[in-house]
Amino acid sequence: MRKPIIAGNWKMNKTAKEAVELIEALKPLVAKAKPEVVVCVPYTDLWAVADAIKGSKIRLGAENVAWADKGAFTGEISAEMLKEIGVEYVIIGHSERRQYFGETDASVNARTKQALANGLKPIVCVGETLEEREKNKTNRVLKKQVLEGLAGITDFTDVVIAYEPVWAIGTGKTATAEDANKTIGFIRRTIKANFGEDVAKALRIQYGGSMNPKNVKELMAERNIDGGLIGGASLKAEDFACIVNYKD
Ligand code: PGA
Repeated sequence: MRKPIIAGNWKMNKTAKEAVELIEALKPLVAKAKPEVVVCVPYTDLWAVADAIKGSKIRLGAENVAWADKGAFTGEISAEMLKEIGVEYVIIGHSERRQYFGETDASVNARTKQALANGLKPIVCVGETLEEREKNKTNRVLKKQVLEGLAGITDFTDVVIAYEPVWAIGTGKTATAEDANKTIGFIRRTIKANFGEDVAKALRIQYGGSMNPKNVKELMAERNIDGGLIGGASLKAEDFACIVNYKD
């Protein structure tokens, strides 16, 4: 059985002060959460959020991690720095990183390996653009992202994949539950063929892209969908809590 994981991706939103307010509002609402609950927050919020979530079920995530241990990498943040704060998860290869900051499957792979080597749990993002989808390239694109992004990884215990069709992110357009399930099924089969059946069975794969309180139940009812990576709706305590408590 795969334990569902609902993770908020705050992106570049919330100052540290606002972050604490959001966490304080969220805590009582997710006190009985059945899935794993994670908030991935801007670096500058991490210390404050680490403190604010103490004693709650909420786990802490960052939105990236450097591939190197330390050194001359201006603007990057190392795994060791994140570990010291109490970070457990890191988002890697989000489509916004790929689109605006030159992230590639090779850099995703290097960051993922570095996360795992340092005991951080990577949420590795994959997904096709609208153009790729319309040209029927979805499976080809996903296969490449999965195989190159996860190349050389042997222990998948701590790995989470987030399937996020780029055209569904922040647009209010969601993949239909059936479609998301089918595509995540393809990712699972790709994992099976390359990393073995046991890995494919145990690996958690989230859906991301305009998941909200209205569509969460339908999406989570699908066999292959093990959770969500939530952008916009994670910025409001009530909405995020509704998603977390989708079973109630
Ligand atoms: P969204 O973002 O929920 O606002 O579409 C999801 C994501 O980018 O992870």
